[in-house]
Amino acid sequence: MNILLLGSGGREHAFAYKISQSPHCQQLFIAPGNPGTEKHGKNVSISAIDFPAIEKFVLENNIEMIVVGPEEPLVKGIFDFFEQSTVVPELPVIGPSAAGAQLEGSKDFAKDFMIRNNIPTAGSSTFTAENIQEAFSFLDEHATPIVLKADGLAAGKGVVICQTREEAKNELSEMLHGKFGAAGNKVVIEEFLDGIEMSVFVLTDGTHYKLLPTAKDYKRVGEKDTGLNTGGMGAISPVPFADAVLMKKVETQIIQPTIAGLQKEQIVYKGFIYFGLMIVKGEPLVIEYNCRMGDPETEAVLPRIKSDLVELFLGVAHANLQEVHLEILPYSAATVVLTAKGYPQEYEKGKLIENLGQTTECLVFHAGTRKRANGDIETNGGRVIAVTAFAGNLSKALKIANRNAAIIAFEGKYYRKDIGMDVM
Ligand code: AMP
Ligand code: GLY
Repeated sequence: MNILLLGSGGREHAFAYKISQSPHCQQLFIAPGNPGTEKHGKNVSISAIDFPAIEKFVLENNIEMIVVGPEEPLVKGIFDFFEQSTVVPELPVIGPSAAGAQLEGSKDFAKDFMIRNNIPTAGSSTFTAENIQEAFSFLDEHATPIVLKADGLAAGKGVVICQTREEAKNELSEMLHGKFGAAGNKVVIEEFLDGIEMSVFVLTDGTHYKLLPTAKDYKRVGEKDTGLNTGGMGAISPVPFADAVLMKKVETQIIQPTIAGLQKEQIVYKGFIYFGLMIVKGEPLVIEYNCRMGDPETEAVLPRIKSDLVELFLGVAHANLQEVHLEILPYSAATVVLTAKGYPQEYEKGKLIENLGQTTECLVFHAGTRKRANGDIETNGGRVIAVTAFAGNLSKALKIANRNAAIIAFEGKYYRKDIGMDVM
């Protein structure tokens, strides 16, 4: 069948790589894609949020499945758009309904959902500009550090950890007065959890789920987890400390109540759920939900899946995911992200990328790249390339990933050389 994948980052390059290996996939199209996805299918220049243009493309190219990479089309209701489409009826969209995507689209919704469904999470309260004085009192009554979260999508920048009450009050005022636009109309103030983070992913058809390989993301720009927050500077999979005892708690206390809660609340969800967890003294708590796969976690997780991903997607579409087998390779994967000078703040673009053909024993996923007229590849984003290596153990995988990260060259290239070191 013909498949349309939406998105243009490293995550989508990893999806394109994996989807194109499936015998079910006749033709793969990626909208809009990047020079990396182009190696596994055909890029089409349609925006992932232009639903009418996507619908027209689906009709003209006999697309039989849409796979959604990023959150924005999901929060904007792409699932619902195609569910209601009379032009291309019954087209499976891998991703939740707009109501389900609210788990990521509204932190306030996600908090209420967790409370209603008894899912362990940090204590919190939500405030608006109308009750800012109450918010200030709330801050006076609570310990620091404390976490402020803009309610809506804020391109990964909406979470601020404040070390003092004064900082928290200033940040809160700025958020409620438009720092993140409408995304900050509501702000969740949340207890700071001191623990170790990990990411857990499931693919669900709304009733059944498959637990995908665990991953750990490295969000801070600097080594030893210092400096500004980024989209993610690297990832490892599996997470060495995620043993059977912890994963049993994650499944029974978090994953199963989440899926049961969605069902009980009649929220249609056929796609990935990303559980951002903090493990505090051996107990998992949810710090965030995302309605999609993580980036760069996908680049470490998907290469470890041996099974046919499209077969799993068909299980989602037909609501018989329990009948599809998921086989995970017993390797460790490590992903190192190469970023442009300045990232995560203003960064440079248009730098020639060299030595892409010189890498060995690894997968090179394009994130923010662009092809020049002469075929050369140049930088076109903050996160430029994600290098994934896998091996029998994490230490070997990291060594290979770092070796190749050093080989790829562009002016201003930066990467963290300590990915995975904290858990070894
Ligand atoms: P997010 O943008 O939701 O991914 O959050 C960014 C980062 O903020 C997370 O990866 C955590 O490191 C941190 N964070 C979020 N919530 C909390 C919390 N309640 N306690 C401690 N750290 C948090
Ligand atoms: N790597 C974090 C995220 O995808 O949200």
